[in-house]
Amino acid sequence: GGGGDAHYVPPSVPARVDSRRGGGGRRQGAAGGGENRRARMGYDAGGAAPRAADSAALPDSADAQLARQLERDVLDGSAGVRWADVAGLAEAKRLLEEAVVLPLWMPEYFTGIRRPWKGVLLFGPPGTGKTLLAKAVATECGTTFFNISVSSLASKYRGESERMVRILFEMARARAPSTVFIDEIDSLCTGRGQSGEHEASRRVKTELLVQIDGINSGTGAEGQVDRESGEGEGDKPKRPLVMVLAATNFPWDLDEALRRRLEKRVYIALPDDEAREELLRINLRGVECADDLDLTALATQLKGYSGDDVTNVCRDASMNGMRRAIAGKTPEQIRAMKKEEVAHPVTKEDFAQALRRVQPSVSDKDIAKHEQWKAEFGSG
Ligand SMILES: Nc1ncnc2c1ncn2[C@@H]1O[C@H](COP(=O)(O)OP(=O)(O)OP(=O)(O)O)[C@@H](O)[C@H]1O
Ligand SMILES: [Mg+2]
Repeated sequence: GGGGDAHYVPPSVPARVDSRRGGGGRRQGAAGGGENRRARMGYDAGGAAPRAADSAALPDSADAQLARQLERDVLDGSAGVRWADVAGLAEAKRLLEEAVVLPLWMPEYFTGIRRPWKGVLLFGPPGTGKTLLAKAVATECGTTFFNISVSSLASKYRGESERMVRILFEMARARAPSTVFIDEIDSLCTGRGQSGEHEASRRVKTELLVQIDGINSGTGAEGQVDRESGEGEGDKPKRPLVMVLAATNFPWDLDEALRRRLEKRVYIALPDDEAREELLRINLRGVECADDLDLTALATQLKGYSGDDVTNVCRDASMNGMRRAIAGKTPEQIRAMKKEEVAHPVTKEDFAQALRRVQPSVSDKDIAKHEQWKAEFGSG
């Protein structure tokens, strides 16, 4: 990650303050709130009603405040998911690398017709690793990663979500190269939830379309980026590299405008035999297995299970030994048990029981719907 941990100040703030006040002529380079506060105090002392001065200053300080809050909510540096933690999906990993990493390495190649994708959509049934994959992009690709979930932001930033989107992309450009990940992007297009939410999400969607159109089109933002980062400007690509990565279970809910901007659409399918076996190995990394446990055979039995389902089966099976150990014991006896008494290697029988308890969650109908959408709109 990049070095600058100083709080981000939206580039538009000084300009807007100046224009509203008839050109105060404040220096843009002056850092921090000290200068701001002084300017405001000077303005108050100049004879205007204090209340008017306060409310004039409010929208801008609110922008900065929103930026700070967004920074906490969406700047995601902690995921730590590696490609190796994601089972299967080799093609999707390759594609994401091509979309995110290569343009950074060879900016002069990715121009004109080869310009980088503005948006990549991951679609597929629930629990197949779309969110996990996006987190791996964050770790592996070394771009600043903004992680926004439409549903949580819509409720949290009620009434300011449009502004939130604009500021978010300003931040993304200022910290480029960056990846803006929008999980559950379908919820922007459906009118789910209460009335009123629909109108708000329509406006957010419109703002998002505008912002995606502005990505890498070379309009305006370069100067601001140079001013913000202030290091290694010589060898950086001219345009700030920003890519939108989106995920959905309901690709058919996306309207045409949004779909068109998510140029690359990658199907994240249920895991195949090989991927399920890999998933079993990933999930059982810290778990002791009995000799009778054949993961290849087990992977075959798990046909139709999503990655999330397989994970749940593993969790259930690995708890079974403990269940047996504490059966019929009193709370006091359980509390007195040592770790070695509770932990037993996971057996084939544990998995047989777990398989009966955990059913596959994705229906054939759902899969068929995804494959049909893929045939119509998917890429590759
Ligand atoms: N390919 C995979 N490799 C490793 N783990 C996986 C994979 N797919 C799913 N999982 C497991 O399932 C959990 C849920 O996966 P994830 O949240 O990425 O699914 P999703 O596709 O985003 O689902 P949804 O569409 O419901 O949001 C992960 O935390 C992980 O434990
Ligand atoms: Mg998800």
